Amino acid sequence: MSFWKRHQIFEKNSIVLIAGILLVISIGGLVEITPLFYLKSTIEAVDGMRPYTPLELTGRNIYVREGCYLCHSQMIRPLRDEVERYGHFSLAAESMYDHPFQWGSKRTGPDLARVGAKYSDEWHVTHLVNPRAIVPQSVMPGYPFLARTEVDLAGMANHLRTSRTVGVPYSDDQIANAVADLKAQADPDNAGVEAFTKRYPKAVARNFDGKAGLPTEMDALVAYLQMLGTLVDFKLYNEKANLR
Ligand code: HEC
Repeated sequence: MSFWKRHQIFEKNSIVLIAGILLVISIGGLVEITPLFYLKSTIEAVDGMRPYTPLELTGRNIYVREGCYLCHSQMIRPLRDEVERYGHFSLAAESMYDHPFQWGSKRTGPDLARVGAKYSDEWHVTHLVNPRAIVPQSVMPGYPFLARTEVDLAGMANHLRTSRTVGVPYSDDQIANAVADLKAQADPDNAGVEAFTKRYPKAVARNFDGKAGLPTEMDALVAYLQMLGTLVDFKLYNEKANLR
């Protein structure tokens, strides 16, 4: 019996055909999937990444709540026009503490992955209250209520705890001091600023909304925006790239 004659066994008997298909697919699947179990991590560790501070995490929650991701992406692709406009392309590690990630899928407005430190706090506050005050043609909605709404402190420690269950390495110390750290970051005169910067190295404490009093949602959102893309020092990466 020639090879092609023997192939008739598969063509004339659907059960044998199905068994054959399953066998071939599982070999292919194993070849693709097994190596993943032996990788320590699919994300390369990068210096500078740290979990969000309680104030930044609150800002991130507001970003998600208000649906900013519907118009803004946070993912710079390694294409020339994007890199020239926004800066170094995004690294996987830069989203490692995002649950869920904010890569987005639509850019009605610009990408925000590296918007941190691009503008002043005052710029952000003015822009968020009324985008048309800065960009007359802007279609972005205003969010003036953020400046009037105090941050809900009650759930703060639980937000950190929940993030920890999905893998963000918050320490017991950070969870226990969540509310104190949030207040300290929004007020540079707060006595807890030193302890706060010990727990979150390189995080800046500022009065982000420019107003005295308890932290507002504006403080939180601006703190989050001003941190975006600033954690990893890309000077090192760019120097390495130039050496090549
Ligand atoms: C309907 C779409 C839309 C939504 C929703 C939206 N934006 Fe925008 N955003 C824009 C557009 C368009 C621009 C560009 C014009 C401008 O600066 O206002 C922009 C600009 C910005 C900029 C300036 C970026 C830069 O590099 O110049 C920031 C920051 C920003 N948005 C933050 C936010 C935040 C935070 C939210 C959620 C609270 C939000 N946006 C919601 C459309 C949107």
